[in-house]
Amino acid sequence: MFYVSCNLGFEEDLALEIKECWPWLIGTDGQANHEAYPTLTVDKGGVLVDCPLAQGVQLNFFLKTAHRILWRVAEFKVRDFPKLYEKVRQIEWSKFLSSANVEWVVSASQSRLNNEKRIEETCKESFRKVFPLENKNLTSAQKVFIRMHQDICTISLDSTGDHLHKRGWGQLKGEAPLRETLAAFVVRQMIGEVSLGELREITLVDPMCGSGTLLLEALSLWCPVFERDYSFLRWKQTPKIFKTELWKKNYKLLVSDPPFKNYCGYDVEAKVIEAANLNLAEMLKKVSIQNAHFRFIQEDLFKESSDSSRGVFGGKTWCICNPPYGERIHVLTKKPISYEDLLKRMIEKFDAKKIGLLLPNKPEVRKIRLPENLQKILEVPFSNGGIDVVLLIVERLDQPMH
Ligand SMILES: C[S@@+](CC[C@H](N)C(=O)[O-])C[C@H]1O[C@@H](n2cnc3c(N)ncnc32)[C@H](O)[C@@H]1O
Repeated sequence: MFYVSCNLGFEEDLALEIKECWPWLIGTDGQANHEAYPTLTVDKGGVLVDCPLAQGVQLNFFLKTAHRILWRVAEFKVRDFPKLYEKVRQIEWSKFLSSANVEWVVSASQSRLNNEKRIEETCKESFRKVFPLENKNLTSAQKVFIRMHQDICTISLDSTGDHLHKRGWGQLKGEAPLRETLAAFVVRQMIGEVSLGELREITLVDPMCGSGTLLLEALSLWCPVFERDYSFLRWKQTPKIFKTELWKKNYKLLVSDPPFKNYCGYDVEAKVIEAANLNLAEMLKKVSIQNAHFRFIQEDLFKESSDSSRGVFGGKTWCICNPPYGERIHVLTKKPISYEDLLKRMIEKFDAKKIGLLLPNKPEVRKIRLPENLQKILEVPFSNGGIDVVLLIVERLDQPMH
């Protein structure tokens, strides 16, 4: 059993993402995945996936909105420390782990055993009894998650390592960058049920792109991330195929053309445009994408038309935008800019058919009066690193996508 964690509110979409990537996985023989779709149970902050080890660990490569993927090795009811000690001792740790370098991550709620420090000490002591061989030379430790909730203790091994939002590219950031997992969620909501054929006609524009996170996520949405040091690669039970040099070549079903036809990012700051270009170059070294049409351009969205107005590529355009929160947009212009002005400007400048705006979840945002030719098709609230935000997606009434 696996537990895939995510941002609160993303659970249903994560379940969908798991189903979407299922056919892309491989079996332990390197052939197409013949395992039936797993049973998924949506929980608060994650999804439980009932599937074999080989398929569960591969979810790390594909899921773009997930935080991390845990493999559940034990689950039991416990209301006292001696029993906890005994249960931890009974786990066949040496069957799973190749080293005793372990970092414990404990959480406890609504349980008789609720002292997290004492729970950790008990687990540590019991674990050392059966698995004393700590290797001082190893730098990375295996994270073990102990969750105590309503007297049920679940013990899981983290299969991921570094948090999944760290894709292995995009290290250069501008001000207030968006986490990659949130950016992927925003892109997925924009796409909704629009067909691949329709997407491939669209130029995606981010008029305030910063270091490019939204566009880079939109470009790599369906690309697996292989080039990372996942924790599960060090597990004893990990299928041999993932320990060979050639396993990546077995993923034959993958789409390598990007979802959108063209990608175009603008920002008023030259240094973030430079960072976006470097991030893109870094990404293209790590994923295999063909036919990526990409441009990053330094330009103030409110500057009078230049050759870049209406998008450098022409054709149908969608805009996706994470503007600065508060009053920071108007610093760059003479007068304050409202969110209504921002929407109007994206239609005027890019002839945008669909617009996704990530805004602070404040009363004035909820009261936005949409220009007459726009209709709201989605409003999703969530937390962006502790700030309450809302994703607003609007579409042109004269040209709906579907
Ligand atoms: C919140 S950041 C976007 C971060 C981006 N989503 C990322 O993850 O890197 C907002 C960006 O808007 C840019 N900006 C502000 N006013 C602008 C304007 N008038 N025209 C173009 N860009 C603008 C800022 O320079 C900043 O990079």
